[in-house]
Amino acid sequence: MQPVSSLPTAPQKEQAVQKMFTAIAHRYDLNNTLLSLGLHHAWKREAVRSSEAAEGDAVLDLCTGTGDLAVLLARQVGSKGQVIGLDLNERMLDYGRRKIERLRLNGHITLLQGNAESLQFCDRTFRVVTVAFGIRNVADIQAALREMFRVLKPGGRAVCLEFSRPTNAPLRKLYDLYSFTILPRIGRLVSHDQTGVYDYLPASIRAFPDQERLKALFSETGFSPVSYRNLTGGIVAIHVGVKPH
Ligand SMILES: C[S@@+](CC[C@H](N)C(=O)[O-])C[C@H]1O[C@@H](n2cnc3c(N)ncnc32)[C@H](O)[C@@H]1O
Repeated sequence: MQPVSSLPTAPQKEQAVQKMFTAIAHRYDLNNTLLSLGLHHAWKREAVRSSEAAEGDAVLDLCTGTGDLAVLLARQVGSKGQVIGLDLNERMLDYGRRKIERLRLNGHITLLQGNAESLQFCDRTFRVVTVAFGIRNVADIQAALREMFRVLKPGGRAVCLEFSRPTNAPLRKLYDLYSFTILPRIGRLVSHDQTGVYDYLPASIRAFPDQERLKALFSETGFSPVSYRNLTGGIVAIHVGVKPH
């Protein structure tokens, strides 16, 4: 067992995670596509579909990074809708802003710096709050879930796309082999990264709550009903929690 003294405190985790994302921001999108074999696009589309965001809705994407979900959400809510993407990391947001400009969506999406654990928005502001591959990185998952709950309107939906636990044993073995040996090498090579982010990635996935545990965390926060769906054999899962009326 790891000695308690070596476990990072929340501020230490936040600092380490931010250092990693600052270092890899310039290659983040390319690496995502390479390392997921392009699958992350389909996973993200599915998450946005699960949000049931409708024309004209105000939606928030937490840990938006370079804004992939914000872009998909903007297309779903249309020109009368409002999308806010929020992230701690200015460098990731910079790349996101360039992408949004390239796609001429700057009138529809606002990217803001902020912390998912203490949001700058009023209670009951959004119809939908999403988070993709982000909640695993926040220092206090429960605080982020509480904030998602607080800023949602009653009846609104929280959608979380995250790496999870493959459901069958042979796939789990193959996936572990890939993520602990091949993935860190490709990641390091492509982003010339020295911070160890691509070693952190599989370790953080393994340490993250599995499908049932994350579902329980949603329920403990007050979401009801809560459901999840496995994609690609449970390599990732989409959790949806509804804020009751
Ligand atoms: C793996 S990236 C995911 C980016 C994007 N959602 C995607 O799916 O491509 C994780 C992001 O979470 C952000 N992050 C980590 N902790 C955060 C926090 N407490 N508040 C806001 N953003 C945070 C990081 O800065 C990083 O941009």
